[in-house]
Order: sequence, then structure tokens, then C-alpha cells
Amino acid sequence: MIAEPAPTLTDLNGHRPRVPRHVAIIMDGNGRWAEQRGLSRNAGHRAGTENIRNIIRTFGERGVEVLTLYAFSTENWTRPRREVNALMRLIGRVINREVKELHRNGVRLVHIGDLQPLEPEIRKKVEQAIALTKDNDRMTVAVAFNYGSRAEIIGAVKRLMADGVPPERVDEQLFSSYLYTAGLPDPDLVIRTAGEVRLSNFLLWQSSYAELYATSTFWPDFDTAEVDRALAAYARRDRRFGGVSDDGGQDAGHAAGNGR
Ligand code: IPE
Ligand code: IPE
Ligand code: MG
Repeated sequence: MIAEPAPTLTDLNGHRPRVPRHVAIIMDGNGRWAEQRGLSRNAGHRAGTENIRNIIRTFGERGVEVLTLYAFSTENWTRPRREVNALMRLIGRVINREVKELHRNGVRLVHIGDLQPLEPEIRKKVEQAIALTKDNDRMTVAVAFNYGSRAEIIGAVKRLMADGVPPERVDEQLFSSYLYTAGLPDPDLVIRTAGEVRLSNFLLWQSSYAELYATSTFWPDFDTAEVDRALAAYARRDRRFGGVSDDGGQDAGHAAGNGR
């Protein structure tokens, strides 16, 4: 059996960063985790939220600057009312429980998605947490709650048009600035737990060159060792951005994407 290579933080030339700047996670599998234990789906969601503190801390310790957590999609409204209500309550509880410590640790909280359909009380909690932490600069945690990539893109197009932006001024940079993720770097690594290998309407524009990593582990069981496995896998990837490999290949100087 071949042992997994140890994670390397630099490439052969010692200069290419091997830690992703931005990691985005599709936190999936709470329901199946609970089902396996004979618990309710809502108990699975509760267990999932208990994992979040450790995961934020671990990615922060590994040098990740931005962590995006997919917590509720625009399609998740189609779930039974009871489950939707429980998920709404949970975001409020997580904020109550975690925000002080996150703030103490220099974490800036941002939200991506649409807060409008949320109950005013929950919306206010999210907005207060964002306002409290807005000047922190050690790490950014983006919570994708009521997030959908297609809705985000349609919203961006509508606002570009409403602003009267002439077509010739529309480029990738300007378009990105109309997305919820304006100001955040694109994700380098997208992790999905619980076995499915699909994006489920998550960061479609932003992930165009992200490395994808899937694990069969359910979200409540995704622990520090899992984080390190994902980061080790990332460190071994050869990101070419449409160019050619720059890890010692003679052609590196000719690569269109060289230097990225
Ligand atoms: C992820 O767990 C949490 C949300 C989508 C809100 P799921 O609830 O999707 O869990 P499974 O996929 O049914 O196991
Ligand atoms: C994706 O999980 C959304 C979140 C993790 C918030 P889903 O469980 O909703 O995705 P599908 O239905 O399996 O594609
Ligand atoms: Mg799921």
C-alpha cells in the first residue's frame, strides 16, 4: 500500500502557496448522519452546527483567509415546513452561541445570499453580527444562508441593467463586483461532505477554477483530521488555469496562465 504523501506547503521551487486562500464547504449529510443513529433530521442539523466552531478554528490555524459555509440553499425552502423552521431557528442560535468568541478571535462575519425572506428577528441577529465583526481582519467567514448561485447571477444582471451600465463596460471584474461575494477572492478549494459530487447551485461563477474535493464523511463527523486530508489533497493538485504545468516543466515560461 502506498502511504499518503505528507502535506507540502510549498512547491518544488518553494514559492507557490500550497494553502488555499479561500475554502468553501458544502456542509452536507446532517440528515443521513441522524438517520443512521435513529435520530430526527433536526437532531442531525443541531449536531452539524456543533461542528462549526472547531472547523473555523482549524482552517484559521492552517492559514486559510476566507472560509465560506453553505448552510441553506434557495432550494432548501422546498423541504418540509418543520425542517425549514428548525434550520431558521438554528442560524439564530448559532449566532448567539458563537459570535462573541469569533469576534474575540478576529473573525469577520459576512453573509452571502438573500436575507429578505428571513424572519425580521433572525435577520437582525445576522446583521448585528456582521456589523459587530466588520473591522476584524484575521479571517473572514462567509455564511451562505438562503444562497443560490443562479439567483445571485440574475440579481447581478438586474442591478447592472438598473445602473445603466453600458455593455462595453461589462467585464469579469465588474460583473464579480455585482455578486454577493464582491471583494472576496474566488474559492481555491470547494469541499463537499457526505458523498455527493455536485455543486447544488453553490458559487457557480466563483468556482470556475476551484479544486473540488469530496469526502463520504457526513458533515457532523467532519473533524480536524478530515480538514487536514482535504488540505493535503489540495496541496498535491496541479492547478494549471488552462495553461501548462509550472512545476519544473521546461514549458513553464510559455504558459499563458504562468505567474498566477
Ligand atoms: C445539509 O444536510 C444541511 C442542509 C442542506 C441544510 P442535509 O439535510 O442535506 O442532509 P442529507 O443530505 O439529507 O443527509
Ligand atoms: C446543498 O445540500 C445545500 C447545503 C449544504 C446547504 P443539499 O442536500 O440541499 O443538496 P442536494 O439536494 O443533495 O443537491
Ligand atoms: Mg443533503
